[in-house]
Amino acid sequence: MSMEGVCMLKIVRARDYKDMSRKAANIISAQVILKPDCVLGLATGSTPIGTYQQLAEWNKKGDCDFSQVSTYNLDEYRGLSHDDPQSYHYFMKVNFFDHVNIDIANTHVPDGANPDADAACAEYDRIVAEAGYPDLQLLGIGNNGHIGFNEPDDHCFSKGTHCVDLTESTIQANSRLFDRIEDVPRQAYTMGVQTIMHARTILVVANGPAKAQAVHDMCFGPVTPSCPASILQLHPNVTVVADEEALALCEL
Ligand code: F6R
Repeated sequence: MSMEGVCMLKIVRARDYKDMSRKAANIISAQVILKPDCVLGLATGSTPIGTYQQLAEWNKKGDCDFSQVSTYNLDEYRGLSHDDPQSYHYFMKVNFFDHVNIDIANTHVPDGANPDADAACAEYDRIVAEAGYPDLQLLGIGNNGHIGFNEPDDHCFSKGTHCVDLTESTIQANSRLFDRIEDVPRQAYTMGVQTIMHARTILVVANGPAKAQAVHDMCFGPVTPSCPASILQLHPNVTVVADEEALALCEL
């Protein structure tokens, strides 16, 4: 037990990135085996890439069948077309969907190409609800504690899918994937915290020292909109798979 109190989230300690990826893939694979037509909520970013690679490997071996799975991604940059190499549509295609036997018609990402933010977000909320919400939602965590693109903000706990202005810290963090920081979109459509909390199980992956404070605050800090991930303490079924560096500030 932590000196700081009981953590409501189940924490799985991983040795390193590879171990984190394999453990997370095992949890997702178990979900797919238990319910072959499950709904998965998926994330982009650097953290889950190894998890997707591991799942693709098991899929090739015939051990994890995605043919009946449907997926709903958390977010997409506003203003990028689906085939823009910086879009999350594209990311999911090259990092996961192209490598497994998923039916691409069953994969969903918010429509960043739709300039009508209200319509794009309302439609996304509608289809996620119609699918019955994810059986398992995979999340990364931002250095500032964001989940999806729900940035620290007084109202971040109360929203469904919506358009957000990205914070300077997120623009900085994401600029590593763009040629120039000016190219990083300033807005995104994201599933809201309300939508995320509907998932029946949640799996958070985190690695590296830059995540240590956010992981600590998510697990042991107060539940506050200044760390959006802290809301997960109120969800009944959250597992955090994190490496030693990301857990460095957690006394376990
Ligand atoms: C991505 C997403 C973000 C990332 C977070 C961490 O779909 O919703 O919340 O999970 O920014 O990103 P990485 O993994 O690149 O550190």
